[in-house]
Amino acid sequence: MTAGPEERNGLTALARGLSAPKGFVDASMAAPASGTIRLLGGIPAPAALPVEATSQASAQLWQDPDAAVASLQYSPARGSDALCDWIARREGVDPSRIVVTNGGMHGLALAVLTVVERDATVAVDDPVFPGFLWALEVSTTRILPVPVLADGFDVEHLARQLATGARIAAAYTVPDFHNPAQVSLSAPKRQALIELAERYGFYVIVDNPYRELRFHGRDQGVAAFNESDRAIHVNTFTKTLGPGWRVGWLVLPDHLVDPVIRLRNRLDVHTSSVTQAIIERLLTDDSEWFDAIVRGATALYRERSGVLIDALREQLPDALDVVPPEGGLFLWPRLTDDAVDPAALFRRAAARGVLYQQGEFFMADPGERSSARHLRLSYSDRPPEELREAVRRLAMAF
Ligand SMILES: Cc1ncc(COP(=O)(O)O)c(C=O)c1O
Repeated sequence: MTAGPEERNGLTALARGLSAPKGFVDASMAAPASGTIRLLGGIPAPAALPVEATSQASAQLWQDPDAAVASLQYSPARGSDALCDWIARREGVDPSRIVVTNGGMHGLALAVLTVVERDATVAVDDPVFPGFLWALEVSTTRILPVPVLADGFDVEHLARQLATGARIAAAYTVPDFHNPAQVSLSAPKRQALIELAERYGFYVIVDNPYRELRFHGRDQGVAAFNESDRAIHVNTFTKTLGPGWRVGWLVLPDHLVDPVIRLRNRLDVHTSSVTQAIIERLLTDDSEWFDAIVRGATALYRERSGVLIDALREQLPDALDVVPPEGGLFLWPRLTDDAVDPAALFRRAAARGVLYQQGEFFMADPGERSSARHLRLSYSDRPPEELREAVRRLAMAF
């Protein structure tokens, strides 16, 4: 139910200004007709989730009285020492620069609240992960859209804007297996973006939840981000261990650790000690465990992306321009025929029992509509036979 004028009277300007849900959280997508195949969310496959291991680690925690009591007390605002140490080793940084968060969105909101002044301008990917624009709304709605190319965020475009007088508080990008555009930012462009940030004095908010899910191709590395005083590197266990944990982390430059902690002391104090204690056991009792989870999940998603691509190429050979992803959870095919109306296609597809995210939900620049000619198809949580059936229904919609 949306608030009427009277209910809205008591709200702060911030609460009144938060935009209404669309696309992702639209009610019709949350409760589609039965039998509908949903290629909607970038969520882990049920088979990839560590149910058995979690059950064992939780049981062990409650059987260990000291650990159980500790997990029911407060823990450090920046996260438990063991979890920070584990994350720091993977990121190649000192543990003092890690802050454990309640997932990626929380990390993005903390980053925005820390470095984006009210009504400042922020450069963002175009197409953009809409969740970032929601997080950004706590400070500003002023954005400078930057095209995402085959090798990621167009750093030269941003450089030209800055050279002609544009000023930004931050630049936001997803560097690995972009949501929704599936591409990765090349290593030279990572370095160039950081150099630009150092030169013009803005922060780079690097959002990297898909980094672990590589099918093939070369890792472009994160050292450029983790070695810079100008980057806030945001990550999460959502795509590997599951979104329900609500656990992620920030890699911060030294000088931002205290400001983030001070902010956090006023918001959520810290991530649940119980949750951290269980994750810590999972990650540290067997040092190979997390890599094995990632390997299993990646193999599954590589296979599923292949099934989806084969079905699209077989059933819709000319209708969609498909580029095989190097990793991640999304395919971002483009409609080849300008005569096809994407909104009408979506309605026909929904009527035939297949839902996907329409490209227009990811547009950052209302004047630049090329994203609207894309479909975002998630393949991670659908078994192969459903992916083939989804494409059959999509072909009927065409
Ligand atoms: C690019 C990007 N950033 C952040 C998130 C949010 O992650 P979390 O569920 O950990 O808040 C997502 C989730 O879909 C995402 O795709």
